[in-house]
Amino acid sequence: MTQPPNGSPESIEPPMGLLAELTHRCPLQCPYCSNPLELVRRERELETADWSRVFAEAAELGVLQLHLSGGEPALRPDLETLVARAAAVGLYTNLITSAVGLDADRLARLRDAGLHHVQISFQDVTPEGVELIGRAPGALSKKIALARAAVELGLPWTLNAVLHRHNLDRVERFLELALELGAHRIELANVQYYGWGFVNRAALMPTRAQLDRFRAVLERAVRELRGRLAIDYVIPDYYARYPKPCMSGWGRSVMVVAPDGTVMPCHAAWVIPGLTFPRVQEQPLRAIWYESAAFNAFRGTGWMREPCRSCPRREEDFGGCRCQAAMLLGDAAATDPACALSPHHEAMVQLAERESTAPPPPFTYRRMGARTTLRQRELAAAGA
Ligand code: SF4
Ligand code: FES
Repeated sequence: MTQPPNGSPESIEPPMGLLAELTHRCPLQCPYCSNPLELVRRERELETADWSRVFAEAAELGVLQLHLSGGEPALRPDLETLVARAAAVGLYTNLITSAVGLDADRLARLRDAGLHHVQISFQDVTPEGVELIGRAPGALSKKIALARAAVELGLPWTLNAVLHRHNLDRVERFLELALELGAHRIELANVQYYGWGFVNRAALMPTRAQLDRFRAVLERAVRELRGRLAIDYVIPDYYARYPKPCMSGWGRSVMVVAPDGTVMPCHAAWVIPGLTFPRVQEQPLRAIWYESAAFNAFRGTGWMREPCRSCPRREEDFGGCRCQAAMLLGDAAATDPACALSPHHEAMVQLAERESTAPPPPFTYRRMGARTTLRQRELAAAGA
């Protein structure tokens, strides 16, 4: 067994969660999607038997929670079978859905198959706002209908709101909607700039003033809604003082399996050059978790340089996000520039302030094949 950089394999805890990206196909085209620009097509997706084996291996490895995600996982006709297989090996199953293409009858079948929880994304609180982001007409009423169905079926559900400059001023309405629809939890997540979100950063970045208002609403809501609605939130990295402990630390508690079976420590790890990610078709999950070079690359704190190396927060935030350091600095082992102690922090803040106060450019919507258009645009800009 390969010795990881910070201690013996026995000192590595098993993962708590597995995020299964069942498909990249999706009826929505959200410009902040964290999926890669090169989306996996249907013909390369894992089959039912592959996923079932992955779930069994995950349970054996010690995974407790399975998040079934996408794209839109409901586009998989075998979703009920997958939920049943996951439940049979003892995994807690959470379905992350846009609610477009998933009705009450199918949700009932999923519950009967063993589904424990559903997370419904709300791109906005108005039909126009939802359509601006997702480009699926009538999507808001489908989300509301699915939320009501979840309550009727006794399934706990979370309202997932992704926030940006076009909807951040409607956070109060998001909270009201969650209460009206009987959500158990709301996740108020400011856009994280990975994948399509990185491409659309200038169109999505909120101003500092918007964020200050958001913080005030959030503080009041946390105080006043205690016991009625659980509130999780994510602040945009570009305005943070310290970075988030991305994925709770690299290779520390989560595995992500892409639709084609590629296994990564996070959904954006493909941006880091030089890492080779194993596939479930080639190796068991246990070997991938404990032994693969990719999972050991930034595990623990041994890979850190200054200022992280001697920082008292290094075991709290693990130096922030490796993918963000790679994307913004071209160096995955650098301190995340979201940290005020990074020499690049001020440049990151200025970039956010510049982009958020300029008129927003049009969105580049997430679509199969759009990577080619983006590449052509890059080449044209470079004068190639
Ligand atoms: Fe975290 Fe590194 Fe910043 Fe310290 S210097 S707060 S460990 S990112
Ligand atoms: Fe990859 Fe943060 S998204 S480490």
